[in-house]
Amino acid sequence: MKKTILSPLSILVCSGALVLSNSLQAAPFEVLHWWTEPGELQSKQVLVDHLKVNDIEFEDFAIVGGGGDGAIHVLQMRALSGTPPEAAQIKGPDINEWDKLSMLVSIDQLVDTQAWTNFLPEVVIDDVSVDQEYMGVPINIHRVNWLWLNSNIFKRFGLAAPKTWKQFFAVADFIQAKGVKPLSMGGTPWQDALLFESVAISVLGPENYIKAFVHFDNSVINSTEMVEAFKLFKRLHAYTSIAQQGQDWFWASQSFINDQAAMFFMGDWVKGSWTAAGKEALKDYQCVPAPGTEGVFSYNIDSFVLFKKVNTEIELANQKTFVNTLISPEFQIEFSKVKGSIPARQNVDLSGFDACSKQSAQDFDNKVKVPSFTQNMATSSHQQGQIIQLISDYFNSESLSAEEAVQQLSVMVKALTSK
Ligand code: BGC
Repeated sequence: MKKTILSPLSILVCSGALVLSNSLQAAPFEVLHWWTEPGELQSKQVLVDHLKVNDIEFEDFAIVGGGGDGAIHVLQMRALSGTPPEAAQIKGPDINEWDKLSMLVSIDQLVDTQAWTNFLPEVVIDDVSVDQEYMGVPINIHRVNWLWLNSNIFKRFGLAAPKTWKQFFAVADFIQAKGVKPLSMGGTPWQDALLFESVAISVLGPENYIKAFVHFDNSVINSTEMVEAFKLFKRLHAYTSIAQQGQDWFWASQSFINDQAAMFFMGDWVKGSWTAAGKEALKDYQCVPAPGTEGVFSYNIDSFVLFKKVNTEIELANQKTFVNTLISPEFQIEFSKVKGSIPARQNVDLSGFDACSKQSAQDFDNKVKVPSFTQNMATSSHQQGQIIQLISDYFNSESLSAEEAVQQLSVMVKALTSK
């Protein structure tokens, strides 16, 4: 799954533009992340508290913007100027990209990771490893291919959860005719792409989804099935709320939970924002797999990497403590309960988790797992960013046809993967 494509950052670094700081970085421990919505802030507090108990003072390096686009850019600038934070929320193939710059601490060389294979699932191990070496610490697993149903609205109209796209469109038409907005939707490209991702998984099937979005196999990218996926995706536009451009997912999650829209496609980090507002799974909202994706689990694993900048024994000890805290079952359980995810560790006690997380844990074990390309799990973020923009442009354009969009995608992917 790891690709060998150099990002613009790698090129700058290879040409010697990067100078790592040798200066002493005294505590506190600076951590870059993009957890800025109410539910995310509460989960971040769990991290802060667990670190504090272990004598690490968390220094916030938070960049607003769900999906992390902004955060990654700021991190690149900080790294290029020689002042990376101690740790950063880096996921998926980006771990490999940063590792190529020789900037990351090997977790294997920092702490004893031998036992990790006993409690981490393979897909998680692969995600945070480069050449069989842990380069990141995994903390949780989010499911992305969820469709959320507003209980009040579904009950009011006596509607059943749609399992297929045909049922989805029937339900959406019915709700629309009643004067209620069927689908809540934010206004950033990654949110459009997240919706496309579920459509693509259902239309292409998990195998071809992986071929297209992990391996960039042009025979699937440039196929009639892909055109079909784009067309189906576009049909959804008519049911969405008109978000202002740039409006983040939190806005859409609120309009859904406040009964202004009946359905919402989003990863289960959204539950964190509802829990923070006192809403309950199965009572205020239902969780069902996106239509046509019942057999699939599209995963998004949150993880942290550490940057090489240690000069003192205390700093080294802090790094070790950071890793040991994040991998501990106590932290992972408490964190995921608030975040809406499930712990990255397996065989932990999920009794205090909500019904949607329990469902997620069961499905993670039993369904076909695919990496979420909109959540940096399938490709590095510079490749993903281009693809997401194209998908979003198509979704919001009145003139671009599905055939043209697929053609553009095919050309783009060739350019992104050529040496
Ligand atoms: C992260 C989640 C986060 C979400 C929205 C995802 O990319 O993995 O942890 O809650 O973005 O900000």
